[in-house]
Amino acid sequence: MAQVIDGKAIAEGIRGEVKAGVERLKGEGVTPGLAAILVGEDMASKVYVRNKQKACHEVGMRSEVFALPGGTSEAALLKKVRELNDDEGFHGILVQQPLPRHISEGKVVEAVDPGKDVDCFHPYNLGRLFAGNPTFKPATPSGVVELLLRSGNDPAGKDVVILGRSSIVGKPLAALLMGKGRGGNATVTVCHTATADIVAHARRADILVAAAGKAQFVGPSMVKEGAVVIDVGINRVPDPKAERGYRMVGDVDFEAVFPKARAITPVPGGVGPMTIAMLLRNTLEAARGKEAF
Ligand code: GUN
Repeated sequence: MAQVIDGKAIAEGIRGEVKAGVERLKGEGVTPGLAAILVGEDMASKVYVRNKQKACHEVGMRSEVFALPGGTSEAALLKKVRELNDDEGFHGILVQQPLPRHISEGKVVEAVDPGKDVDCFHPYNLGRLFAGNPTFKPATPSGVVELLLRSGNDPAGKDVVILGRSSIVGKPLAALLMGKGRGGNATVTVCHTATADIVAHARRADILVAAAGKAQFVGPSMVKEGAVVIDVGINRVPDPKAERGYRMVGDVDFEAVFPKARAITPVPGGVGPMTIAMLLRNTLEAARGKEAF
């Protein structure tokens, strides 16, 4: 019988730690603040940003959403980012992705002050991460690492296989897991669309992380008996029985993999809640003014 890793409960624990940290900092006269910029009308992005703001308020942080119309020019968005860079009331800035096609995400990410880059998307912060000296750690990858540690599945010495090489999840997660110290010391393989035999790699994993963006891609034939399976996927699949006509599933076929796994994360309620918890932690650290800046 697999252990179902309760991401909601673990995230709640971290939010409690952040809340205590926020109270301490407020006692010193600093209220941590997060600014979120949302461009356009993407429904999923609106929900994500609203949830982030709500989570900030719950731990006692200040948070403001700057909603800009979809037709906003790149120059106007860059101006807004620079304004927030100079605003001492905000310690963290995030620009919700995806951005409209006429705006370069790369340019916008590079305009954010690295000291306020709580998403850890800026090349400076990614460089520090890959150099083994991170200031911020990106939210979803560090959420995966915390889930492993706090569920009693330390990756040290294990063979970890990551399915997916995105800049937001696969690549930075590999850097964290292969790093030295807490949450690191794993042997990491990253598979992607050009990998010759994904199944053969996946079957060797002690810890399998699915971040491929493909609904229920991982079935039992890809999982070693007794493996730990972490599902980062969030995919919308049609379901005529569901209220909205669709339901959300992960990259793992949970029902089929469950009997084979030692531990597994559900979707929803696994990695998802961790992402916001880690964003809050980064915002608190930014407000504390970590040494690097
Ligand atoms: N879009 C999807 N995930 C994220 C995230 O973690 N941060 C931002 N800024 N945009 C996203």
